[in-house]
Amino acid sequence: MLEINHVQKNFNDQVVLKDVSLTGQPGQLIHISGENGSGKSTIFKIITGIIKPDKGNIAIAPQKTIGALIENPGFLEFESGLTNLKFLANLNHHYDEKKIKKLMSGFGLNPENKRAVSKYSLGMRQKLGIIQAIMEKQSIILLDEPTRGLDQESLKHFATLVTQLKEEGKLVIIASHSFDHDLSYDAWYRLADGVLIREK
Ligand SMILES: Nc1ncnc2c1ncn2[C@@H]1O[C@H](COP(=O)(O)OP(=O)(O)O)[C@@H](O)[C@H]1O
Ligand SMILES: [Mg+2]
Repeated sequence: MLEINHVQKNFNDQVVLKDVSLTGQPGQLIHISGENGSGKSTIFKIITGIIKPDKGNIAIAPQKTIGALIENPGFLEFESGLTNLKFLANLNHHYDEKKIKKLMSGFGLNPENKRAVSKYSLGMRQKLGIIQAIMEKQSIILLDEPTRGLDQESLKHFATLVTQLKEEGKLVIIASHSFDHDLSYDAWYRLADGVLIREK
């Protein structure tokens, strides 16, 4: 479903990715760990096509859609959480109010709360970011440091959600500097010195 073949990426004269290859199949949960600045977000940006690799290539099976939370998701700061999600879903013509409200409630966000996103805590923003990455039934889901700011209960819900996505046949890739949650990964990789090494 997703193939990354020997990707290289430099920023000016800084070599960030030297040799990155990874294969992901439907129903797999993959973890990429690596220290700050190791290039995790860069890998996600290359998968989504925001930036182009200098060498190597990415192959994504036809008709597969990508949902992504990368770095700090941007929102319409003066609008509510629900309005933001509606707006993003509408852009792709995938607006499903019932589903969005259900995802919000599941994460402890009240869809009827009119509070502006500018007043949200980091954890609340992360929840919106996770929801927008999965709310359109995307087949490949990339989550970059998704659990930042999540409390214990939200972490549990996150684990349930990811397990559910896996069961639905999605490919889920989580990047974080460490394993900070209790999930059963099909494969885990470590990114160091620009090289992605499979550890399991
Ligand atoms: N657009 C860019 N221009 C220049 N340098 C960048 C750019 N994006 C990332 N970098 C650099 O690439 C390295 C990897 O960044 P990043 O992928 O964000 O790491 P991580 O997500 O693992 O913390 C960092 O040293 C960062 O400063
Ligand atoms: Mg990052």
